Amino acid sequence: MTDQTRIPVPDHIAQAAHMDAEAYARTVESAARDPQGFWRGVGERLDWSRPFTEVKDVSFDRQDFRIRWFADGELNASVNCIDRHLPDRADQTAILFEGDDPSVDGRMTYAELHAEVCRMANVLKDLGAKKGDRITLYMPMIPLAAVAMLACARIGAVHSVVFGGFSPDSLGGRIEDCGSTIVITADEGKRGGKRIPLKANVDKALEKVAVDKVLMIRWTGADVPLTEGRDVVYEDVREAASTECAPEPMNAEDPLFILYTSGSTGKPKGVLHTTGGYLAWAAYTHELVFDYKPGDIYWCTADVGWVTGHSYIVYGPLANGATTLVFEGVPTWPDAGRCWQVVDKHKVNIFYTAPTALRALMREGDDWVTNSDRSSLRLLGSVGEPINPEAWLWYHRVVGDGRCPVVDTWWQTETGGILISPLPGVTELKPGSATKPLPGVMPAIVTNEGDILQGAAEGPLCITESWPGQMRTVYGDHNRFIETYFTTFPGKYFTGDGARRDADGYYWITGRIDDVLNVSGHRLGTAEIESALVSHPAVSEAAVVGYPHDIKGQGVWAYVTLKADQEPSEDLRKALVTHVRAEIGPIASPDVIQWAPGLPKTRSGKIMRRILRKIAENETSALGDTSTLADPSVVDDLVRNRPG
Ligand code: WTA
Repeated sequence: MTDQTRIPVPDHIAQAAHMDAEAYARTVESAARDPQGFWRGVGERLDWSRPFTEVKDVSFDRQDFRIRWFADGELNASVNCIDRHLPDRADQTAILFEGDDPSVDGRMTYAELHAEVCRMANVLKDLGAKKGDRITLYMPMIPLAAVAMLACARIGAVHSVVFGGFSPDSLGGRIEDCGSTIVITADEGKRGGKRIPLKANVDKALEKVAVDKVLMIRWTGADVPLTEGRDVVYEDVREAASTECAPEPMNAEDPLFILYTSGSTGKPKGVLHTTGGYLAWAAYTHELVFDYKPGDIYWCTADVGWVTGHSYIVYGPLANGATTLVFEGVPTWPDAGRCWQVVDKHKVNIFYTAPTALRALMREGDDWVTNSDRSSLRLLGSVGEPINPEAWLWYHRVVGDGRCPVVDTWWQTETGGILISPLPGVTELKPGSATKPLPGVMPAIVTNEGDILQGAAEGPLCITESWPGQMRTVYGDHNRFIETYFTTFPGKYFTGDGARRDADGYYWITGRIDDVLNVSGHRLGTAEIESALVSHPAVSEAAVVGYPHDIKGQGVWAYVTLKADQEPSEDLRKALVTHVRAEIGPIASPDVIQWAPGLPKTRSGKIMRRILRKIAENETSALGDTSTLADPSVVDDLVRNRPG
C-alpha cells in the first residue's frame, strides 16, 4: 500500500528551500559531470588556514587502497564551529540547554562557547594533552559534553565519546583499545529522573586499565571519591584557565575522532573520522537535508555518545552557525508530552528523532501531542532504523499537523553523515522510504556476486564512490577496515544493509543483512552479546538473533545452552540478563532467553542462525531444509519449547 502513498512537497517549503527540484537536478548533473568541481564546492564551505588544492584521492582497490579528501589543506574544526562565526553572531545562542528536570534550562552564545572551549582546551593542555593524543569522554547530555569535544578538536586531540549507558567493562575496553591518556566525565548524569553513576563507572573501568588523568565535571554535586594525583575537578581549575587558546592547525586527513560501533564479529571497532572531509560533509548535509536557515532553532534528540550526536548535534549545526538544542532527558519523562513541551518552550523549527521514540510516544495516544501548539515546527526528521509507515504517517499527521515534510535519513557511523534522504524542497515523500541519494552519493544494489543491478531491484546496498565524510580506518586495525567493508564486494563500500529500489528510483532500506542488531536505534553485534553470555560460569554456549519488536524495532533473543551441571530457572534467567547489562550495558539486555539443550549446527559445526531467526520470528513453518544439520532433532525441541 505504502509504495502508492505519496506526499508532495508543500509549495511554501519549495519556494523558500536552499534547493528546489531544479537546483537539485542541476547539482546532481554537475556532480556527475565534474565531480572534482562539485566536491571542491563542498570543501570550500569550511574555513581553511591553508586552502586545499587536492580534492578527491580515492581508490577502493585492495592493492592501492586509499581514501583522502582535501588532503593538502589545513584547518581546525573548533575554529570552523566557533571562531569563524564570532564576527557575525557572537551573541547568538549556539547551544540551548533543556535539562532532564523541566525547570532547568540554559543557553550559551557563540562568544561564551568560544571562551568555554578555550578554557577546557587550556585545562587539557595543563593535564598534558597534546596533538594526536586520545581522550575518552563519558558524559551526560549537557553543553559541556559539546564543549569537551570541541576542546579536544582545538588542541588536535582525538576524542572518543563513549555513551553514558555503557557499562564500566565496555568503557574500559574502549579506553584501552585507543590508548586514551585522559578521561573526561561528570560526577553523575541524569536521565528520566534517575541518576547515572558516571564517575563511579569510570573508577571501576580504571581498575583494569590506567590513564594519566580524569577530568571530572561537577554536575549533580554528588559526593564521589577522588583519586589523588589522577582526578581533577574541572570547576577547581576552570576559573584560572585562559579564555583564549590558539587552535592547533590540523591537516585535513588528521583524525578528529574515534567512535566505537558494533560489527558482525568481534569487539566493537573504533571508527576513525578525519577533520576536513568529515566536517565538510556534516555541514553540507545538515544545511541541505534540514534546510537549515540562519535563525532556525534546531533540535536533534540523539545522545552525543552516538554518531548522530556527533554530526547533527555538535559538528554539522555548529559549523553552520546554528542554534542547537542539547536535551539531557528522555522523551517519556516526566510524561509523554515532554518533546512537544520542549518544542513549544524553545520554539523549535526542526526536530530530528528516532523511530523507536516515535513508536513509544504513538502508543501513549495523540492527546500528549495535540495538547501542545507545535506551530513553530517546519521540518521533521527520522534516523537510526527503518521507520515503519504507520509511525511515519503518525509523525507526519499528528506531530507535524500534516504541514511538515518528514526526512527519513539513512546513514551510518561509518558514513559520517547522511547519504540517502529526501530534501524538503525537492522530494515527493513515500512513507517508509529514505527516498534518494544526496548529490554526489552513488548507491548501488548488487547481486550476491557483486554485479550492479539496474532499475527496480533488491539486494545488498553498496556505495561505489567515496564521499568526504567516509570513515578512514578502524583504529589500530586497517586490515579489519578493508576486510569488513571492501572485501565482500571488491571495489565497493558494502554497508551491511539490504535495500530495495522501486520503479521510481526510491530506496527502501530493509535492514541489516549481517549479524548486527538494531535495538531501539542502537547497534549491537550478536557476537558481543554472545560473548557476554558465555562469560557467565553457568553458560556453555549462546546464540543471539534479532526478532521484530513493537517499540524497539528489534528485540534481543538469546538461545542459551547451559553447562551439564546447571538447571534452567527463573533466577538464572534473571542472573544472565543482569550479567549482560553489567558486561555491555542495559541497551543489550536480552528480551527473551530460550533454554537450548542444543543449537542447530552444520556438520562442520557452524551455528545455523537462519533457523534460529525463523524460530524467534515465530515463522516455524518456514524453517527450510534442516536435513543437513548435524542433529536435526534440536530444531524440533526449540520449536516445541519456544517461549511466548
Ligand atoms: C540503520 C546511525 C533505515 C541501518 C546513523 C544502518 C537506518 C545502521 C536508517 C547504522 C534509516 C540508520 N532507515 N535504517 N533512515 N538510519 N539505519 O551506525 O541499518 O548507529 O546500517 O548510525 O542503522 O547505525 P549507526
